[in-house]
Amino acid sequence: MNLKELNKIAQGMVAPGKGILAADESTSTIEKRLSSINVPSTEENRRDYREMLFTAEGAEKYISGVILYDETLRQKAKDGTQLVDILNKRGIIPGIKVDKGVQTLPGSDGEKITEGLDGLGKRMAEYHQLGARFAKWRAVLNIANGKPSRQALVANAEALARYAGICQANNIVPIVEPEILMDGDHDLATSFAVTERTLHTVFEMLALHNVQLEGIILKPGMVIQGESCKTVASVHEVADATVQVLKRCVPSAVPGIAFLSGGQSDELASAHLGAMNARHPNLPWALTFSYGRALQALPLKLWGGKAANVANAQKGYLHRARLNGLAALGKYEAKLEGEFKAA
Ligand code: 13P
Repeated sequence: MNLKELNKIAQGMVAPGKGILAADESTSTIEKRLSSINVPSTEENRRDYREMLFTAEGAEKYISGVILYDETLRQKAKDGTQLVDILNKRGIIPGIKVDKGVQTLPGSDGEKITEGLDGLGKRMAEYHQLGARFAKWRAVLNIANGKPSRQALVANAEALARYAGICQANNIVPIVEPEILMDGDHDLATSFAVTERTLHTVFEMLALHNVQLEGIILKPGMVIQGESCKTVASVHEVADATVQVLKRCVPSAVPGIAFLSGGQSDELASAHLGAMNARHPNLPWALTFSYGRALQALPLKLWGGKAANVANAQKGYLHRARLNGLAALGKYEAKLEGEFKAA
């Protein structure tokens, strides 16, 4: 392992004013996204959609890296260029989702465990050869009566730590993603408590497996009430609670924290990140974005599967990327939302 190299990649992923595009939807997830715009999920349509995102001129000002799915890492653009080369040419770092999704955790009350550790070292070596310099593994935790259980927390944290160790042995930076779903009616305080327990367990397991924190990126959700909770916390409350829990749990050796959007609206995902950085300017780690839906919802809709809409969809994507880039600098303002007008 070359920790200096890993740290350099991690620093690049969270460079000032930049964040990550999560475009690593699995085949079944991208099918859902495409069917929402009435486009069949063929290999060609998936390619055209992602090529539209990757060729957006100027995205590299705000986007440091893109998380890819296995198919995309190997895929060529319409003109025969590898999609990875398009990213590299712009100075955008290619990354790869390596987990194999979730299964029910035996012995639990329907909780989930992420799979994909078997043979991962071999896959990782190939991914490095194909150009990936960072990876992602997503653990999924659910808040409900007594959940997440200690069993689910420990099992998922240990899988994350083992994955991270395999990444580092192959000189790939692991994005460590313990996602706590927003499903349910839990309040902000519950989200805070569960996030705290989760992050403590994750960092305990990372230490147990000798993962070098200078060479990881943490990808948590924000501390936020459940989707169907009646009491909605303000932007400042979410920002302050999230920063408070991170200060308690995340060692300063970690170069950066890149949030998932988790089903928040585009605007709120930007506003929350912006408020964290504006209100807490001197944190030990960079706070930025690694959004899937909150970066893609607008360009996906504008594109609609039509080549004639590519330029307009790219403008929509750049708008969201720029606003999130500003949020990473603490310079997001709600009034900037009005600057984009669809053609
Ligand atoms: P969302 O931002 O849509 O939550 O996706 C990010 C991600 O990579 C989830 O694993």
